[in-house]
Amino acid sequence: MNIIASVPEGLEKYLAKEIVDLGGFNIDTYKRSVSFECDYATFYRIHFFSRLAFRFYREVARFACYDRLSLYKSVKNSFDWVKWLPPEKTFSVQVTGRTSSLSHSHFTALEVKNSITDLQQSVWNKRSNISLDNPDLIIHLHLNNDRGILSLQSSFESLHKRGYRPAIGNAPLKENIASGLLKITEWDGTIPLIDLMCGSGTFLIEAINQTLKVPLKFQQFYLFENWLDFKKEIYLDEKSKAKKKVFAFEKLSKIIGSEINKDVFDQAKVNISLAGLENYIELQNNDFSKIQSKYSDGLILCNPPYGKKLGDENELITLYGKMGDFLKKNFSGWEFWLLSGNPKLTRYLKMKSSLKIPISNGGIDCRWIKYLIR
Ligand SMILES: C[S@@+](CC[C@H](N)C(=O)[O-])C[C@H]1O[C@@H](n2cnc3c(N)ncnc32)[C@H](O)[C@@H]1O
Repeated sequence: MNIIASVPEGLEKYLAKEIVDLGGFNIDTYKRSVSFECDYATFYRIHFFSRLAFRFYREVARFACYDRLSLYKSVKNSFDWVKWLPPEKTFSVQVTGRTSSLSHSHFTALEVKNSITDLQQSVWNKRSNISLDNPDLIIHLHLNNDRGILSLQSSFESLHKRGYRPAIGNAPLKENIASGLLKITEWDGTIPLIDLMCGSGTFLIEAINQTLKVPLKFQQFYLFENWLDFKKEIYLDEKSKAKKKVFAFEKLSKIIGSEINKDVFDQAKVNISLAGLENYIELQNNDFSKIQSKYSDGLILCNPPYGKKLGDENELITLYGKMGDFLKKNFSGWEFWLLSGNPKLTRYLKMKSSLKIPISNGGIDCRWIKYLIR
């Protein structure tokens, strides 16, 4: 299969590595996506273990696409819709990208829909219904440089929704972004980990689950189960292997999160317990400056408020200054990683960074910054 994975901007090469580790090959990376090839077993496996992808799309056709007519004809002729989409099945169409003459995605999606339903009418004198909430097939068209790539979306829900986070705190990180940032730190569970401002607990939960290779929550149904060539035996075999995995929780070092806001702290507790990790994470409902550690090295993370709202910047200047002082005084020898969405505030840490990696977090251009605390 030829697969395209969508991924947060900045994490493309880490997803590429993850895909290779899971069995994909012929990998290419693009902005916000990674393409690769894989067999059926790998395809099912990546849905259980990819921590960085939002979604997977299976490419079914590529064509030149200049205008409405060429799009209509190409969609009709480039794939065996008659076998894959009988009129009793519902579908929906999504469009990303644009060409010079197809710049309105809603209009382009209608054209794709018409092309397919006209074909169905001509064969069966019946056509599929469109369903946005519960389609049997999601057809995705990506347009770029007068070319179209048609693919089938493999899951309705995005894989970044892991199911352990009904409570989402203040400005939570998406789970796959948290996971990608952790991959960059190369934390392997053997040294202590502290999140100074843990919010809903995303870093802490992702840190353990990705280090121990805990599978994602299985979705009740994947759209690929509706595909004509779905290999149920291979799918069930991969799923049962994933379910039977044993995790080396005993190898984990100390993991601490602090959160000053009591409501958010309570939410983090719920999330951590839903993830089944309450025995491996120490949560403190406190200001980060109350954290103590007897270890001489370890990893500290922080996704602090950025101060995008008016009025709170002065308070945050004090907060960042306090954080810098606290780290230098108490955690010399440790590594510190900060997700910065506001370079002006970061300066108040008064620490010298050793690496800065651009990451887009919910549309905000951020930097994942590494410091060696001295
Ligand atoms: C951007 S949010 C972190 C979100 C988190 N990464 C998540 O995924 O849910 C920043 C958090 O820092 C907390 N916070 C602010 N000042 C703090 C302090 N002095 N000590 C501990 N936590 C603090 C806020 O209550 C907020 O929940």
